[in-house]
Amino acid sequence: MTVPKVLPHRAHRHCRVPAARETLESSKGRYTAMVLTRSSVVTAALEAAVRAPSPHNTQPWIFELAPDTIDVVLDESRVLGACDPEGREARLACGAALLNLRLAIAAAGRVTDTEFLPERERPSLLARVTIGPRHRPTMTERRLAAAIPRRYSNRRPFSEQPVPRGVRTAVSEAARAEGARLILPAEAGSLEATARLVRRADHLQGLDDDFQEELRAWTRQEAEDDGVPAFAGGPRSAGGLLPGRYVRESGAPRVFEQDPLVAVLTMPNDAPMSQLRAGCAMQRVLLTATDAGLSASFYSQPIEIAPVRAELRDLLGGTEHPQTVFRLGYGYPGVKTPRRPIEAVTRDRREVRR
Ligand SMILES: Cc1cc2nc3c(=O)[nH]c(=O)nc-3n(C[C@H](O)[C@H](O)[C@H](O)COP(=O)(O)O)c2cc1C
Repeated sequence: MTVPKVLPHRAHRHCRVPAARETLESSKGRYTAMVLTRSSVVTAALEAAVRAPSPHNTQPWIFELAPDTIDVVLDESRVLGACDPEGREARLACGAALLNLRLAIAAAGRVTDTEFLPERERPSLLARVTIGPRHRPTMTERRLAAAIPRRYSNRRPFSEQPVPRGVRTAVSEAARAEGARLILPAEAGSLEATARLVRRADHLQGLDDDFQEELRAWTRQEAEDDGVPAFAGGPRSAGGLLPGRYVRESGAPRVFEQDPLVAVLTMPNDAPMSQLRAGCAMQRVLLTATDAGLSASFYSQPIEIAPVRAELRDLLGGTEHPQTVFRLGYGYPGVKTPRRPIEAVTRDRREVRR
């Protein structure tokens, strides 16, 4: 198991960096060659980006392309009004897409340079990734990029096999590499209390008609290019600790693992930029877990109800802001959900009207 290292990647805010434009403009022939090289890198990057997880598989992203940059834009029309009124989970999803972009570009042999929130007057423009000069991908970049198409949410019971300490350390390091912290409540003796908050929030969402209507609207009977297909749901849990979402009504309840490895990803603050960076961290953790042969599924209920989120924060010590909750473990094979094609989520930056 490789412990992930930070990418050879610069991340900063409101600060321009020189792109490789001089090279591009130096001669027409070289320009064409560079653009062609870039376009296969860009295609690979976009294919990777859209494999990111998102709440109800809404895929709340748009990618605006210029010759040497990819902008990640929040698609506000796809923010869930009942489940995610502040857009925090949509920003997490865009952060996950951003990490996939960065990894795919790095694995294709290019340096990336990311500006977070590059235009103050346009907060939906979350990040600008500049594709830089050649770069030799590290082993970690290759492994995490290779894990992107293999990752999916697995809502089925996991085996009882415990996650070894080395893997727990690797996923914690992955969170830290992106400026987040991964708290394992079981290690702090607060698993039961955390699970209680998940159950309470789940109960409250069960009583919320708007939430239920939105959940139904995004649940698909057959595979469509967005939303969660019924086949990706999990079985009902027979008296388990954690209540799942997208539970399949048919079929007998199943016994889930007795000692689930629950993880809470936290950030030092809760501003939109932190939520975006939390999404990068979440995705790095999920890819590190996938690379180590683990499965994961989310339990976002306590994040989605503000007073319960505040209780979770207190439970974790009161200093860090919880961003997402999931469980990790050794799963049996599950299924992947579809995505919209990249053409549907991509536009030319020059054609964007301001
Ligand atoms: C911020 C966030 C919150 C999520 N919350 C839940 C959740 O509470 N329950 C759940 O089963 N899946 C949850 N998901 C998983 C999505 O439903 C899933 O990512 C989406 O359907 C795409 O499927 P995939 O992860 O298999 O690629 C969440 C995903 C994200 C990014």
